[in-house]
Amino acid sequence: MKIAISTGGGDCPGLNAVIRGVVRSAIFRYGWEVIGIRDGLDGLVHGWEPIPLGLGQVKGILSRGGTIIGTTNKGNPFRYEVEENGTRVVHDLSARVLNNFRETGAEALIMVGGDGTLGIGRQLMDLGIPCVFVPKTIDCDVAATDSTFGYHTAVGIVTEALDRLHTTAESHRRAMVVEVMGRYAGWIALESGIAGSADVILLPEIPYDLDAVFNKLEGRKKLGRNFSVVVVAEGALPKEGSRTVAVAAETDGRAERLGGVGQVVAQQIEEGLGIETRTVVLGHVQRGGTPSHTDRILGSRFGVEAVELIRRGEFGRMVSLKGQQIVSVPVAEAIDNLRLVDPDGQLVATAEALGICCGR
Ligand code: F6P
Repeated sequence: MKIAISTGGGDCPGLNAVIRGVVRSAIFRYGWEVIGIRDGLDGLVHGWEPIPLGLGQVKGILSRGGTIIGTTNKGNPFRYEVEENGTRVVHDLSARVLNNFRETGAEALIMVGGDGTLGIGRQLMDLGIPCVFVPKTIDCDVAATDSTFGYHTAVGIVTEALDRLHTTAESHRRAMVVEVMGRYAGWIALESGIAGSADVILLPEIPYDLDAVFNKLEGRKKLGRNFSVVVVAEGALPKEGSRTVAVAAETDGRAERLGGVGQVVAQQIEEGLGIETRTVVLGHVQRGGTPSHTDRILGSRFGVEAVELIRRGEFGRMVSLKGQQIVSVPVAEAIDNLRLVDPDGQLVATAEALGICCGR
């Protein structure tokens, strides 16, 4: 038996652990052959030679960030954008993908990705490609799983950055506004903000009231604390206002790119309170580099379970973490259904009990 694996969407620490988990368990348990589709589904769109994945190819990759088979977040074969005579046009290249998949000789495809990739995978199933799914994202916003690999690493990176920013903020008596990733979910901001002792955390799930933020910062000043650390999720938005979008959504289905709200909040603080303020945008640093031990383990467990789903013929299902157990759920449960922070949940309540202002 031959199986294929593809990694789609933004890269994420722990992807290589999934690939290694798939390859080693497929070989050790069942003697199957594994191939990697290059750059998301682009390898199938263009008919590129797949990457043979044996024990040698996955040696030493557990500790490496990124994905050894490549990825893309703009390769939707059902709405593939190409340039023709200087104009950008969108084509449905799914028939080509089906044909090229059959050419590889693989009998099943493991799709590793976030919301967008999972949706594309479901369409591939309708075309006749038997797929199983592995949720991936640093944002931790995929529904129907308690967590995704990559998230733990990202929170660790942001927490370390907050520790570092505290000392420089304190020395200069400044406010430091730190913009973090997470798209429409505030998990990275909330957990790193609590772990990194932020004074203010602004989340997409709680549109912020500027007066509440000002009160918090003024209150600190009165207590003689002349510096503050403000964590802002890239999807945060004011109570009356809209999200800050860096690049609008594209016709090929590419999602809008968020970014810039950190600078907006910094300016509001500087103008409103006269506090010298700096903005730090952590950006893709949050996604790069060595995965944490938690993400290596979760990625490995997901990879091993994906192989089991194929062995049992449970196509259309996604591996998932529920409590401490790896289980599987219909992939439909995860599509178009984000896992967001509950504004009235325990984690926000904990932050507020610690004196952190969550923008209300
Ligand atoms: O979904 C992961 C993520 O890193 C988001 O947190 C962020 O908004 C987005 O991807 C950035 O995408 P890109 O790599 O295209 O800049």
